[in-house]
Amino acid sequence: MNTEFAPATAYAPGKIILFGEHAVVYGRPAIAVPVLQVQAEASINPARGQPVSIDAADVGRHYELDAVPDDPISSIIRLTCARLRVAPRGFSVRVRSTIPVARGLGSGAAVSVAIARALAKSVGQELDRVEVSALAFEVEKLYHGTPSGIDNTVVAFAQPVYFIRGEPLELLKVAEPFLIAIADTGISAPTHVAVGDVRRAWEADRSRYEELFDRIGDIVRRSRSAIESGRVDELGPLMNQNQELLREIGVSLPEIERLAQAARDAGASGAKLSGAGRGGNVIALVREAVQVSVAQAFRSAGAQDVLVTRIG
Ligand code: PMV
Repeated sequence: MNTEFAPATAYAPGKIILFGEHAVVYGRPAIAVPVLQVQAEASINPARGQPVSIDAADVGRHYELDAVPDDPISSIIRLTCARLRVAPRGFSVRVRSTIPVARGLGSGAAVSVAIARALAKSVGQELDRVEVSALAFEVEKLYHGTPSGIDNTVVAFAQPVYFIRGEPLELLKVAEPFLIAIADTGISAPTHVAVGDVRRAWEADRSRYEELFDRIGDIVRRSRSAIESGRVDELGPLMNQNQELLREIGVSLPEIERLAQAARDAGASGAKLSGAGRGGNVIALVREAVQVSVAQAFRSAGAQDVLVTRIG
């Protein structure tokens, strides 16, 4: 029997990691938050009797599911159809996204989550956030090596999360909202490259890296307590300490250090890279009064794009 696909559209936000990237791959906690100003949108349209066509114009791609069976978009379509027990035919998929690709903003996970949700909606089935996150995680595993699962989780839940790999998710209560400025270095850095390099360095000197990861884990726990009790002033110094450890781990770059320092000089109380590093985004904690000057400082120091997001 052929399934009827009704027109349906769904969305998913971008994300940033506030604290704990890389160490999270090794079992330490991390904190991530959604970035609602950027999002992925997926639309399903009925196309009875047709092969599934995929229109992902933002990344310059238009192709058929059967012609490219093993890319992330094709994979989430196949996995979601299998989960929904429907055959992958008789519809088209259109993907649009304002989330920059390969900059640590979770664009891949957001595209997966939006497609899974749109397909479920299209056939009138419910997929809860845990199921959507699990489907997106399958795709992350296929294309990103050894992901911790934090990206798909925060994107599917669209709420601040305190995440430990393999443990039940804890949503984070933000007692006092705060502002984070996000600056794009303009340098694309595939996550699996930085994660692979860290893995090799860890293999070569486990005790040193385990200690660095422990210190990051402590910072994450202290940050959680500060966020949940509204002690926002403590977060800036904690970001700076996390950045020092990320530099020691080997995932910073001179360009990242320059942007972080420019933000601090312009009044941000802390700054660090966010995500895998080696490029991607630099984030800074800003008060309302300095957000414009920090954004300007980021741009003068070479940022390609800057946005400010409110957490909580
Ligand atoms: O996808 P990104 O660039 O936000 O980085 C993922 C964060 C890492 O901790 C480096 C990897 C992971 O799977 O958690």
